[in-house]
Amino acid sequence: MPEPDPNVLVGFGTADDAGVYLLRDDLAIVQTVDFFTPIVDDPFDWGRISAANSLSDIYAMGATPLSALQVAGWPRDTLPLEMLGEVFAGGLTVLKEANCVLLGGHTIADDEPKYGLAVTGTVHPDDLVTNAGATPGDVLVLTKPLGSGVVATGIKRGLVDDVVADPVIDAMATLNAGAARAMRRVGVNAATDVTGFGLLGHLGEMIRASQVSTTLQWDSVPFFAGVHALIGDDVVPGGTLRNLEAVSRFTNFGSHDRARQIALADAQTSGGLLISVEAPLEKALLQALREEGVSGVTIGVIRSRAFADGPSGAVVVV
Ligand code: CO
Ligand code: CO
Repeated sequence: MPEPDPNVLVGFGTADDAGVYLLRDDLAIVQTVDFFTPIVDDPFDWGRISAANSLSDIYAMGATPLSALQVAGWPRDTLPLEMLGEVFAGGLTVLKEANCVLLGGHTIADDEPKYGLAVTGTVHPDDLVTNAGATPGDVLVLTKPLGSGVVATGIKRGLVDDVVADPVIDAMATLNAGAARAMRRVGVNAATDVTGFGLLGHLGEMIRASQVSTTLQWDSVPFFAGVHALIGDDVVPGGTLRNLEAVSRFTNFGSHDRARQIALADAQTSGGLLISVEAPLEKALLQALREEGVSGVTIGVIRSRAFADGPSGAVVVV
């Protein structure tokens, strides 16, 4: 582990979205890196989605992205370099939208295409939103529907038509910038973005870091159209099944069947923000999200019992 440094505001310890380093009393830098293999066929769309995903960890901290470096791996013997150019172009459109400048990058030869960004953002330390501040009585608000992992697997297997795929691709390429502005405006206790570990995995990190428990309302959790049918047809990514195994250690699913458990554990790409806000501010947050064109939904509440693995469940799904 790295040496302790008083300027490290967020480091490895809390499994947060990004690292935060204090430069001056009124300024901290926020740093994150993410890259992955293609999740859709179109190289331009993949570039957009991967860039939005990489930027998301900055927004999840309540920070503003400033600059980025791109990292890529490319099988230059089997795929044309022009295609990599389309990936970069997709990423650039999203960076522009985020007012984040691309400063450079590095590409290596690789058997499998990979692309993503290392992003630096800034935040006033008072505005920093970690995953460790969730407080008993808070409500949990989620800003994008779930199920992108299932739908992406359906796309890969050629089982999904555009009516199901397009809204998911659009959502994955949508920045969490508006959601971050809304939560900064209202003032919230904690946030994280929902990505590879799924809703329950990232919620688990939040309540573990905050030493609280939570109750989730199944009926309130939003899903993309087609997700439940795909799960019924056994279209489930391997990462989602691994997530379910991991989150089952601290989740009490009650009478909810395996299909619902899979849905809640689904590995997301470029998912929404999961925000923990004081109950009296819930309406203000939902209103601020609407004004940003973001559909926020309340999906649960934070309970006071300290986080613990075990059958009683730090997460209870009702
Ligand atoms: Co994150
Ligand atoms: Co990340």
